[in-house]
Amino acid sequence: MTEKYRVTVAGCGGMANSWIQYALQREDTEIVALVDIKIEFAQAMAEKYGLSCKVFTDLSEAIRETGTNLVFDITIPASHYGISTTAMRLGCDVFTEKPLAESMAECRDIIRISDETGRTHAVMQNRRFDPRIRALRQLIDSGTIGRPGYAGADFFLGPHFGGFRDVMDSPLLLDMAIHTFDQARLILGADPISVYCHEFNPPGSWYAGNAAAICIFEMSDGSVFCYRGSWCAEGAPTSWEASWRITGERGTAVWDGVGAPYAESVAPGDQTGKFMFDYVKEEAEVAVQDHTFHYGCLDEMFASLEEGRRAETDCRDNIQSMAMVFGAVESAKTGKKVMLEDLWR
Ligand SMILES: NC(=O)c1ccc[n+]([C@@H]2O[C@H](COP(=O)([O-])OP(=O)(O)OC[C@H]3O[C@@H](n4cnc5c(N)ncnc54)[C@H](O)[C@@H]3O)[C@@H](O)[C@H]2O)c1
Repeated sequence: MTEKYRVTVAGCGGMANSWIQYALQREDTEIVALVDIKIEFAQAMAEKYGLSCKVFTDLSEAIRETGTNLVFDITIPASHYGISTTAMRLGCDVFTEKPLAESMAECRDIIRISDETGRTHAVMQNRRFDPRIRALRQLIDSGTIGRPGYAGADFFLGPHFGGFRDVMDSPLLLDMAIHTFDQARLILGADPISVYCHEFNPPGSWYAGNAAAICIFEMSDGSVFCYRGSWCAEGAPTSWEASWRITGERGTAVWDGVGAPYAESVAPGDQTGKFMFDYVKEEAEVAVQDHTFHYGCLDEMFASLEEGRRAETDCRDNIQSMAMVFGAVESAKTGKKVMLEDLWR
């Protein structure tokens, strides 16, 4: 029997494992080809998962020979644009790893080609599919702290990757901050309007490029989002989900990225005359979900195809998070505030 989704996996490196494992547990999905510019990586992946599909070094050939209708792009960022546009032009829908592409011009072009071909293009933003961030969003949405005016995210970790991140420019902003910026958009439910960014390489950094940044974003709801991050911070690491504080009209929501979020807001009743008001604490309700992170995002991407709608992380949405990244890099270079709407609208 031919399965509904005939998938070519492009890029057979580390991250491909999660995607392949996910595809294997779907009854309506078959991996029909593995592609890697290093054919031995594709062969090794086929062997690892006992796949009898063909292996290729060229995506177009793989799509044409196997009747592929869906491409998983898990190649390196520099290849995302080429893989995505080739796949859509050959009639395939595309689910890609972050980042959408390597420049704003490429991001816009991907949207244009998705419009022209009518093919879906959605991006992996796994950190959105964390039940705790959904609970935080719900806490804010339900009015617990009133209208938010400020959101702050602290991200301080010291991973010793070795490899390309150690030598690239702006490793934190270009390789990691997309996650936290995208999380901020979800938490606030707002679009990015402008950014001012100061990027630097702190003493003790083992990166050639700037591994730390402070960014101030103005958001469409009038709130300010402040990102403080470092990838060369030894000791007392924050969570990879970042540590969050959101202040609103009547209270504050806190999520340390480890436990469950909670809010403290002004207690009901008359507080007249008090120097500091009394507060009530409310724990967020974290739902139990079978599929979270990569699996949760892939569930949503497949559901969007099933239901004929755009995925939550459709390229047209994701370009806003990309604008936050590229805008921050530009601001750091020029020392000026950068308006973001022109980049993504
Ligand atoms: N969402 C997350 O949390 C997360 C975490 C890690 C990596 N990623 C992303 O996943 C992607 C892959 O990362 P990785 O760690 O697996 O990298 P990797 O280097 O281990 O694997 C990438 C593979 O793609 C292959 N490749 C490169 N260009 C190609 C092309 N044009 N056609 C076919 N194959 C090509 C390479 O040979 C390599 O085998 C990156 O975009 C990265 O940013 C996301």
